Amino acid sequence: MKIQIINGPNLNLLGVREPGIYGDSSFEAYLPKLRAAFPGVEIDYYQSNIEGELIDKMQEVGFSADGIVLNAGAYTHTSIALQDCIRSLRCPVVEVHISNVHKREEFRHHSYISCVCAGVICGFGLDSYRLATDYLVNRQ
Ligand code: DQA
Repeated sequence: MKIQIINGPNLNLLGVREPGIYGDSSFEAYLPKLRAAFPGVEIDYYQSNIEGELIDKMQEVGFSADGIVLNAGAYTHTSIALQDCIRSLRCPVVEVHISNVHKREEFRHHSYISCVCAGVICGFGLDSYRLATDYLVNRQ
């Protein structure tokens, strides 16, 4: 089984960026813990700050992987192109946010991608990725 994690813009700065909101761990430091939670599952990781590169990666893996965990960062709130991409894929996509976007500024309350994702997990810090992966690995 293969799960693809995709992080969007500014998530390469996890651990440095606004630690009061996003925590003090980089994603690279967290990844081995996520992998250890799912022995036997291949968990690949990709990050880009560029919308088109995120779409290229989704198209590349979205017909062969068993699921995608997507934190689209701020593109969540702006990108019809990501919505169209997710619609086109064969594998399920779970939308993830580290912070609880509903507790934050109003512009973060709307997502252009929730309507085409299997579900949304937000507000549990980096544990949001484990919860999303658990759904994709164990769904019936
Ligand atoms: C985020 C929430 C977004 O609103 C923000 O633009 C991000 C990170 C999160 O993980 O909490 O970049 O997706």
